Amino acid sequence: HRTAAVIPAAGRGIRLGPGAPKALRTLGGTPMLVHAVRAMAASRAVSLVVVVAPPEDTAAVKLLLGEHSLPVRTDYLVVPGGETRQESVRRGVEALPEDIATVLVHDAARPLVPVDTVDAVVDAVRAGAPAVVPALPLADTVKEVEPGAKDQPEPVVATPERARLRAVQTPQGFDRDTLVRAHLTVPLAGQGATDDAGLVEQLGEPVVVVPGHEEAFKVTRPLDLLLAEAVLARRRA
Ligand code: CTP
Ligand code: MG
Repeated sequence: HRTAAVIPAAGRGIRLGPGAPKALRTLGGTPMLVHAVRAMAASRAVSLVVVVAPPEDTAAVKLLLGEHSLPVRTDYLVVPGGETRQESVRRGVEALPEDIATVLVHDAARPLVPVDTVDAVVDAVRAGAPAVVPALPLADTVKEVEPGAKDQPEPVVATPERARLRAVQTPQGFDRDTLVRAHLTVPLAGQGATDDAGLVEQLGEPVVVVPGHEEAFKVTRPLDLLLAEAVLARRRA
């Protein structure tokens, strides 16, 4: 009953601005993807990491992972990604060997997630939850709007009660069969979902939340890169 981590890393990183694909940008001199792989491999539960690479960089990513040390217990595979995150994760899931029973899906763009968060997610799946997401309460109040014409003020539709909202992170953890069924059932062409648990919800299966961690934030915009460098520098001090 092995556990694998699928790492979608095939995005361009448009919101980060011009440059290499986001997962290959460096943080403290090391590519973000390598940090993310190490963060998964740091969990003793994880014996395989499946990296879903930008299709044109698959060979380069294989070389990169060969150059950086991982724990000896950790195997890795590299597969080419797709047009959307959902498609990339599906490709990673399709590459999983038979003996994997628990699957983590972790964004390469969350390079600094602490191992305790990874372990908490794995433990909750092993304890019987088919789908587990780490999440944190929100600092900002959230409003639903009716998106209208460009540059026009948007009418507010609703204000969900903030205390009931959670911002979800990764790694999200799944019983393998549940994740496979979710990815096979929900069409790529449809509305899809921005996270994997969202696909499981569309199946009508239960999803539970465990505490996330501030340092599991996603590097999305330039300011996030600055924060990630600062967190890393503090860890190394
Ligand atoms: N991802 C992927 N395949 C895609 C799109 C995204 O594997 N076709 C991955 C990204 O590499 C990232 C994770 O999904 O690790 C979360 O996506 P996001 O933060 O949106 O990254 P990007 O899509 O690269 O960024 P942007 O949306 O700004 O272009
Ligand atoms: Mg994206």
